[in-house]
Amino acid sequence: MILAIETSCDDTCAAVVTRGGEVRSTIRSSQADLHARFGGVVPEIASRRHLELVVPVIESALADAGATLADVEAVAVTQGPGLIGALLVGLSTAKALAYGRRLPLVPVDHLLGHVAALRLAPLGLEPPFACLLASGGHTLVLDVAEYAAPLRLGGTRDDAAGEAFDKGARLLRLSDAGGAALELVARDGDPARFPFPAVLRGQDGHDLSFSGLKTALLRQVRELGDGLPELRADLAAGYQAAIVRQLVERGVGALDATGRSELAVVGGVAANAALREALAAACAERGARLSLLPPALCVDNAAMIAAAAFAAPALEPSEYLALDAYARSPLAG
Ligand code: KG4
Ligand code: ZN
Repeated sequence: MILAIETSCDDTCAAVVTRGGEVRSTIRSSQADLHARFGGVVPEIASRRHLELVVPVIESALADAGATLADVEAVAVTQGPGLIGALLVGLSTAKALAYGRRLPLVPVDHLLGHVAALRLAPLGLEPPFACLLASGGHTLVLDVAEYAAPLRLGGTRDDAAGEAFDKGARLLRLSDAGGAALELVARDGDPARFPFPAVLRGQDGHDLSFSGLKTALLRQVRELGDGLPELRADLAAGYQAAIVRQLVERGVGALDATGRSELAVVGGVAANAALREALAAACAERGARLSLLPPALCVDNAAMIAAAAFAAPALEPSEYLALDAYARSPLAG
């Protein structure tokens, strides 16, 4: 069994996963409430909270799996990208646990983790496939021939898709549940009422851009003034549709460019039902297969870090004690 720890942002996560890819337990303790009143994640507060939560979360994961540290063969941990202070809490904890029992440690790139979630039950997806990674910090278009080394075809030029959802939710004065809150409101809205610019439409390549949509939304919100509550659902639906349109276009573009017959979508934004429906329609139209994760495996979790550890080198105690966290992923370009 692998014990995995993930503390790259504001969720403290631990999971126990078997070498066969079976998730025995996965625990995710969100700090969202703690950061809500600041309008975003405060790095120092996140680190301190990780420090308080990391051991109880690991204990819960072991207990849920019916396991103890004696059953653990290796410890996997997110090394980066993310908030350095937050990452260091997970990394130091993982080193201490592993070193105490002389276990190997597997440092994992968080982005490779999101992709590797596809390996786990129930999907158990094997490469090759084209892949969209859309999270709060990253938006990437990838060609995955092997889990250890996805090829970056393109990515966002400015905001990440999840960041666009989060900023949109804030502009629409929704709760701090970000994309999930915006999705909920958009359900009752008419996406055609407020047209948003078709950013990068028809442009070659695999890049995306979301900051123009945010500016368009800000302008609409200002124009509406006190009339916002009445038209909030329509505005949310139009904004969401514009984000979804771009992701679907780049997903289909990745299938075309790579000749792959399978498209997979990972990261927190992949939990969005409107995106899932639009991708299903686009893939059905062209006879491509679509792989979607259960929402709990889309958002940050530690099971995906264990999954990525199967494809990454394990380090011995003499190699990992000096290991440092990193803020930027080589995959992000
Ligand atoms: O993968 P993730 O949990 O963390 C990062 O690695 O960033 O992604 C979090 C992002 C947030 O921006 C959040 O607003 C977005 O995923 N998200 C959603 C939904 N659920 C989470 N965006 C749109 N619709 C959702 N249902
Ligand atoms: Zn993530």
